[in-house]
Amino acid sequence: MEKFIFSKDLKTDVSSIDFQHQILIEKINILTESVEIADNEKVLINLKDLVRFTKQHFMYEEMIFNNFNYKQTKAHHTRHIGLTNELDDLIKTLEDGNPINYNEIYSFLKNWLTNHIKIEDMSYLDFMRENKVP
Ligand SMILES: [Fe+2]
Ligand SMILES: [Fe+2]
Repeated sequence: MEKFIFSKDLKTDVSSIDFQHQILIEKINILTESVEIADNEKVLINLKDLVRFTKQHFMYEEMIFNNFNYKQTKAHHTRHIGLTNELDDLIKTLEDGNPINYNEIYSFLKNWLTNHIKIEDMSYLDFMRENKVP
């Protein structure tokens, strides 16, 4: 599977957010490596690590939203919850020993993060700039 790259079109220019998005991409790549060597134990460990960091990242964004009264907080939070639930379901599927298609996991994670950054995260840029979030 090809490496997931932090491409220009994913850059928000809010450095704390870009830094965290890069970590998420790196964690998806690490997870993909364990998928490629078909190490199920590592897949689960790396997936849990990815989910843990994803939740922290979502909390960070929402903390900023709350601090500066972002108008779209509720809608963005709802998207975060939906994504978190999908990731938790994926962990459960693996823990229950159900068969999963690893190519599907990779595409799901890549599409999920790319779309979320490009659509929901990009729409808070003016708000972040106005409030000088570093
Ligand atoms: Fe977000
Ligand atoms: Fe984000």
